[in-house]
Amino acid sequence: MKILITGSNGMLGHDLQDVLSKKHELILTTSKTLDITDKEHVIDFICDKKPDLVINSAAYTDVDGCEENQDLAYSINGDGVRNLALACKEIDCPLVHVSTDYVFDGSARDPIAEDGEIGPISVYGKSKLKGEEAILEILDKYFIVRTAWLYGINGKNFPKTMLELAKNHPEITVVYDEVGTPTYTPDLACGISQLIETDYYGIYHLTNSGSCSWCEFARYIFEVAGCDVKVIPVTASEFARPAPRPSYSVLDNRNWVDNGFEPLRDYKEAIKEYIELIK
Ligand SMILES: NC(=O)c1ccc[n+]([C@@H]2O[C@H](COP(=O)([O-])OP(=O)(O)OC[C@H]3O[C@@H](n4cnc5c(N)ncnc54)[C@H](OP(=O)(O)O)[C@@H]3O)[C@@H](O)[C@H]2O)c1
Repeated sequence: MKILITGSNGMLGHDLQDVLSKKHELILTTSKTLDITDKEHVIDFICDKKPDLVINSAAYTDVDGCEENQDLAYSINGDGVRNLALACKEIDCPLVHVSTDYVFDGSARDPIAEDGEIGPISVYGKSKLKGEEAILEILDKYFIVRTAWLYGINGKNFPKTMLELAKNHPEITVVYDEVGTPTYTPDLACGISQLIETDYYGIYHLTNSGSCSWCEFARYIFEVAGCDVKVIPVTASEFARPAPRPSYSVLDNRNWVDNGFEPLRDYKEAIKEYIELIK
């Protein structure tokens, strides 16, 4: 297949390239070569390249930054996605769009299925929801893949920050009242590569298996990496940040499993591999 990837310089974008280049012809775009907020360019570019599939891994992902730069957040995460959907409609090509657990409000106490009640509490979550809504309005052939707590080799992420802090902090405070599923971007990219071989269009939750709080995750990272660091649990309200986060956003990967795919491996296995790789 000829696949156009947006945001190919991003953390997930890099792993999508790695995984998909083995089997497919890729058209890689960045914010410089294809700014998804430029409607005319997006439509011209995609109509000219005529890909068989578009994967959108471009987004404004700075959750706190979105609170300050609301227009930018809605422009990239909402209108940008709408532009891609319009272009895909024009050439009748499916769109894979990566979305987030932050479209939920955190009030659930059990893993949330794809049809769980939506209710974003941050500008980031609200802007990502706008993107989802535009796709549902415009396209029939789409995969909306909601994922969570991403980390990978290429990009800023929680495990990297923890390991960096551990170099010169004997004690680190970490939030314990937010629970989710850390997800390794190469595992997600492999999942997406399986999904695109099908026409099982729809909304998918796709994360590694298992769940933990940020605090438990930090402790596990330090245990695996052999770092002697004391993790001090704090509440999200003690650890003030501009954007509120859902206190619980574990995603039930129900559609994925119901469509016959193997669940992604446990987050503990994945983080072990990551730490081994970056050591
Ligand atoms: N990170 C997480 O924990 C997390 C959790 C759940 C869901 N997600 C979703 O997963 C996807 C991938 O996330 P990620 O962490 O890999 O993101 P990332 O590393 O921040 O990469 C996002 C990419 O988007 C590009 N971009 C920004 N504005 C753009 C524009 N106007 N036009 C075109 N490209 C633009 C950036 O390109 P340049 O580098 O060229 O500027 C950047 O490389 C996103 O949809 C995100 O919402 C992420």
